[in-house]
Amino acid sequence: MGVIKDILRTMDYGPSPEGSEHVRAWLDERAGGFGHFIGGAFTRPHDLFDVFNPASGEQIGRASQGSPADIDAAVAAARKAQAKWAALSGFERSKHLYALARHVQKRERFLAVLETIDNGKPIRESRDIDIPLVARHFYHHAGWASLIENEFSGTKPVGVCGQIIPWNFPLLMLAWKIAPALAAGNTVVLKPAEYTPLTALAFAAICVEAGLPAGVVNIVTGDGETGAALVANAGVDKIAFTGSTEVGRSIRKATAGSGKKLSLELGGKSPFVVFEDADLDSAVEGAVDAIWFNQGQVCCAGSRLLVAESVAETVYAKLRARMANLRVGDPLDKSTDVGAIVAPVQLERIKRLMREGEKEGLEVFRADDSLPARGCFYPPTLVTGIEPASVLARDEIFGPVLVATTFRTPDEAVALANNTRYGLAASVWTENINRALEVAARIKAGVVWINSTNMFDAAAGFGGYRESGFGREGGREGLSEYRVSDEGKVKPRSGKPPRLSAAPGLVPAREVMGADLDRTAKLYIGGKQARPDSGYSYAVLDPAGHEVGLAGLGNRKDIRNAVEAAAKAASWGAATAHNRAQVLYYVAENLSARAGEFARRLRAMTGASTRAAVAEVEASIRRAFVYAGYADKFDGAVHATRSRFVTLAMNEPWGVMGVVCPDEAPLLAFISLVMPAIAMGNCVIAVPSASHPLSATDFYQILETSDVPAGVVNIVTGDANALARTLAEHDGVDALWYVGEAKGAAEVEALSAGNLKATWASAATIDWAKAEGSEYLRRATQVKNIWTPYGE
Ligand code: NAI
Ligand code: MG
Repeated sequence: MGVIKDILRTMDYGPSPEGSEHVRAWLDERAGGFGHFIGGAFTRPHDLFDVFNPASGEQIGRASQGSPADIDAAVAAARKAQAKWAALSGFERSKHLYALARHVQKRERFLAVLETIDNGKPIRESRDIDIPLVARHFYHHAGWASLIENEFSGTKPVGVCGQIIPWNFPLLMLAWKIAPALAAGNTVVLKPAEYTPLTALAFAAICVEAGLPAGVVNIVTGDGETGAALVANAGVDKIAFTGSTEVGRSIRKATAGSGKKLSLELGGKSPFVVFEDADLDSAVEGAVDAIWFNQGQVCCAGSRLLVAESVAETVYAKLRARMANLRVGDPLDKSTDVGAIVAPVQLERIKRLMREGEKEGLEVFRADDSLPARGCFYPPTLVTGIEPASVLARDEIFGPVLVATTFRTPDEAVALANNTRYGLAASVWTENINRALEVAARIKAGVVWINSTNMFDAAAGFGGYRESGFGREGGREGLSEYRVSDEGKVKPRSGKPPRLSAAPGLVPAREVMGADLDRTAKLYIGGKQARPDSGYSYAVLDPAGHEVGLAGLGNRKDIRNAVEAAAKAASWGAATAHNRAQVLYYVAENLSARAGEFARRLRAMTGASTRAAVAEVEASIRRAFVYAGYADKFDGAVHATRSRFVTLAMNEPWGVMGVVCPDEAPLLAFISLVMPAIAMGNCVIAVPSASHPLSATDFYQILETSDVPAGVVNIVTGDANALARTLAEHDGVDALWYVGEAKGAAEVEALSAGNLKATWASAATIDWAKAEGSEYLRRATQVKNIWTPYGE
C-alpha cells in the first residue's frame, strides 16, 4: 500500500516507452537483408553484416558490404543521371527537394524510432532534434536549388559527389551531405556508417516514394573498405567526409593529385568556457547539453570545461547535483536523458581512454554507476583537476565524459581554449557582451556559441579550423563546396622545369636590356633582405639562355625563418580593414610609379615584347588596386537562423599562408595571388616562379617603401616544388596555394595531411588576365559562425 504516496514523494517517472511496432514490422519484412540503392532500385543483398541495437545488443537487420564493383555501379548510375539533373531548371530541382522534405516530415515518427533503435540515442533527441533538422535541411536547400544560378553565377556543379558519413547523427549527416549537393546540381553516392545504415536505407525508399529521378541519390552500405573504394573511384569529382581526423587524413592523402574536390568535417575537443560573471545555472544547463547530448558522441561536444577559478567549486557542485538527475537507460523511453553508446568497440574506446586518464590520478565523479544490465552504456562522468597535457584533455573521447580545468584571466582562458590541435566549436558563457565577443573572436574555431551550445541550423555554416578539417556545411558557405568556378580545368601546363645551377660562368651574361636593374636578388624575410641559408644563388636565364641576373637558392631553413616571421606579423590580421586597404593602395601606387622598370625587367627575363610586358605591368597595377578596394568590402553575413539569435558569419584570415606561383605571367600571377591573401589579413610566404623570379624580387623594394609591416610578405626564391613541399609539411602554415605542375600539386595535397592545412593546388594554365574576384578572397579566408542570443 501507499504506492501513490511513495510516487508523490519520490516523484519518480514510470516507464514511458515510445511505440516501435511499425518499425519492427518494417525490419522484420527485411530480415533477409538490405541491398544497396543504385540507379533508383535496391540491389540483391550480398555479403551481409549484422546491424545491432546497441541498447539491447539484439540484431535488428543485415546490410550488404559494398564492394568496389558496387561502388563502380553506383558511380556509373550517378554519372548517368548527373547531366540531366543539372540541366533541370532550378525550379524543377527545387520541387524534388521539397518533395523529399515533405516525405521526411510525413515519416518523422518512423524515422525517429528507427534512428533510436539503430543508434541508441534517446527518442527525445531523435524526435525533437535530429529528424526535424533533417526536414529543415531539405526545405532550406529546396530554396537554394531555385536560386543557385543567380546567387552563384559563373559556377557550375562539381559533378558526382562521394559522401561518407559517421554514425553519431546518421540521418542528419545524410541530409547535411545530400541536400546541398542536389540543390547545387550534383548527384551523389553516399556511404553510411557500418553501425547505423538503416535510416539511410529508409531514406532510399523515400527517394523512390518522392519520385526522385533514378541515379540522383545512390546509397552503398559497408565499412571503411567500402568508403576507401569510393574515395579511390576515378569517376568521383568530389569527396565530402565526416568522421575521425585519422581517416580524414588518409582521405587527404588518397585524393592528392586526383583533381577531386575535398571537404573534411573531423573531430574536436571543443572548449566550454565559463567566466565568473556568467549566469551559472544557465551555464550548467548548457554544459549538460554540451556533453551529455547524444552521450557525448558529438564532434562539436563541449568536452573541455574551462571555468574561472573563483566560481569553479560552485559550478562543479551544481553540475554534480544536476548529474544526479540524469536518467540513463532505454533510449526508446521518452524520459531517458542519456541513451546507449553506439557499439561495443566505441564503448571499449571510452573505457580505454578513461583507464589511461585515471592512471594520471584524476578526480572522477559519477552520480550513479548503476547501468542497465544489457547493452552498451557509459555513465555521465565529470573529471576535475585536469592538466592541459593530460590525455583526457587532449584526445577526443567521444563519450559522456566532461573534463574540467580552471583559469584565472581571460587571456589564460583563450590560451587554454586554443591549446588543442582541433578547432571545431567553442561555447562562451559571460553576461558581459564585450568580453563574449572578444573571446569569440580570439578562439580559433569554426563555430562559437555565446551563452548557448549545440545550436545548428541549415542556414548557418558548420565546420572546423585546423585539424577539425576544412570546408563548411550549411548556409551559403556550405553550398559553395558543391560548385566549381568556370575557370575550372584549363589545359594542363607543359614546359620543362628550369635548371637551377649555382655554378658560376655557365652562361654569358646579357647586359643590353635592363642594365639599370639590380642583378643579384636576395630573399626577403621579416621585412629584411636576407642571404639564402645555402649561401648559393642561381643564374636566371632569358629565353635565349643568357644570364639576366642571380636569385637566391632558398632552402628548408629559409622557409622556416619566413614562416616564423609571418607568424610574428599576425597583428596584420587584426588591423582594421581600412588600414590594410590604405597599405595596399600604397603598394599599388608605388608599383605604378615604377611601371617602366618592371616592364623592362619582364622583357629582359621572359623575352616578352615591350607591348606585352607593359600590358602585364598595367594589369598587375590594376589588380593591386582591385584588391586594395576589396580589402574592406568582403563582408561577412548575418544568417537567418533561429529566432532570438544573431548568427554572424565572419570571414577570418587563415593566418600564415604559403603562395607558390607559376612560371607564366610572373608578375601578374604573383600579384594576383599575394594581394588577395594579404588583403584578407593573412601573412604570406611567397615563392615566385623559379624561371622568372626577378620581377617578384624587385617587388620587395615596393614593399619596403609602402608601409607593409615586416613579415606580412616574405619572398623565398629557389626550386619552387622543393620549397612547396617544405611549406606543405610545415605545421606553422595554415593554408597553401600552389599553381604549377601536376606533380607539384599532388605533392602539396599529400604532404598537407600533417596538420590538414587547407590547400588550393592547381596544375591548370590559368588565364591570369581574368583571375580576379571574390573567389580568391573566399579561398583566402575561413568562415567563423558566432551565435549570439538576445532577449532576457
Ligand atoms: P571513422 O572515421 O572510422 O568512420 C567514419 C566513416 O568513415 C564511416 O562511414 C566509416 O565506414 C568510414 N571510413 C572508415 N575508414 C575509411 C577509409 N579508410 N576510407 C573511407 N572511409 C572510411 O570513425 P569511427 O572509427 O567510427 O570512430 C572512431 C572515432 O572517430 C570516434 O571515437 C570519434 O573520436 C571519431 N569520430 C568523429 C566523428 C565526427 O563527427 N567528428 C564521427 C565519428 C567518429
Ligand atoms: Mg546500430
